[in-house]
Amino acid sequence: MNVVDIINKKRKKQELTTEEISYVIKNYVDKKIPDYQMSALLMAIALNGMNERETVDLTTSMLHSGNQIDLRMIPGIKLDKHSTGGVGDKTTLILAPIVAATGINVAKMSGRGLGFTGGTIDKLESIPGFKTALTFDQFTKQISHIHVAVASGTKNLVPADKMMYALRDVTGTVESIPLIAASIMSKKLASGADKFVIDVKVGNGALMKNLEDAKKLAHLMVHIGRIHQKETICVLTNMNQPLGSAIGNALEVQESMDVLQGKGPMDITQLAIVLAIQMVRLGKNISEEEATEEVRKVLMTGMAYEKFKEWIQIQHGDLGKLTVSSKIVSIKSKQNGVISHIDTERLGELTRQLGAGRYTKEDVIDPTVGIKIEKKIGEFVISDEELAKVYVGEKDINVNDILECFTISEHFFDNEPLILDIIKD
Ligand code: URA
Repeated sequence: MNVVDIINKKRKKQELTTEEISYVIKNYVDKKIPDYQMSALLMAIALNGMNERETVDLTTSMLHSGNQIDLRMIPGIKLDKHSTGGVGDKTTLILAPIVAATGINVAKMSGRGLGFTGGTIDKLESIPGFKTALTFDQFTKQISHIHVAVASGTKNLVPADKMMYALRDVTGTVESIPLIAASIMSKKLASGADKFVIDVKVGNGALMKNLEDAKKLAHLMVHIGRIHQKETICVLTNMNQPLGSAIGNALEVQESMDVLQGKGPMDITQLAIVLAIQMVRLGKNISEEEATEEVRKVLMTGMAYEKFKEWIQIQHGDLGKLTVSSKIVSIKSKQNGVISHIDTERLGELTRQLGAGRYTKEDVIDPTVGIKIEKKIGEFVISDEELAKVYVGEKDINVNDILECFTISEHFFDNEPLILDIIKD
């Protein structure tokens, strides 16, 4: 077998065999195929696609490129949740304790920020003392004990994805449906949970810019899950504006606590509840109505918030020491009108510039900085009214850059729905 023939085949829009896909992944991870040949193949896939069978084979080959976590020693069904990445997306921090409070095991390996989107591990590490590097033993014991653990991924979990993602990031091949599906599902399958709920973000702050592509991605991931006997549900959600109001690590932890205490923004609260219902439904094999009742109960009685505090404490986090910057710059509107558009990706990027994200692996995050959105799409604003607050640290940003992220119209503008679809098959 020869990698040049395989690249040529995909360039000519031909189907790759199971053996060819496995050959490429194995030899790339073994460093026998260089980055430049892998880049050419990734570009051919990004341009010419892969069918369902090829994508399943790619996922399986990637899954077998490293270790797989075996969680079978923990009794009961283990659930995992994933998001394709958004701005202000702190749902894991809210969902994990809600679902764990109903008695379901939440076993979650999370990542750090990627590009303009934040990562759950960075958010959790903004809590002083919080330990994300758990040993396998600590991870499983904690799940058995309190039903929830969130840890940073181990080194040898899907090495093919680590290498391919880094390459895709710099070769314009991130936005490819088969490559995204294989990347996400290989990691989920390797992480050892039994069932998955995946939040597929759609909009100007997401990888999937339109609903049609998001549906294709969702159906593909549900199919891959089914082939591996792991039930998967995809919830398609709007990412045309940041989720909730906080963007930035410690600010997002604060907002998550607000949601768990019933005083958070509507959209993030609604999303967390919808995702939690799907997880509880899957975890307990019950109807949607029964799952809704369970979620309602743990939120209304404060059990979910208590579980959050217990979880943070067991991973050594000290919520009393959570700090946000005290240097706050107010961004004010220069006109009257209705917010018709928010450039979500740009806001995510500006938050990264403030120091909330990284440009190189070595960059150190400032957990105290971020942006709080005070006006969302569809809301009225008058001249000199506040649109956002910027929590500034060492790095300054231009106030006008943030102002330009908001488009203000003279006409009424309907807010868009948050939950766009739920795909189960
Ligand atoms: N998230 C992933 O884990 N992989 C992708 O390819 C895109 C989003």
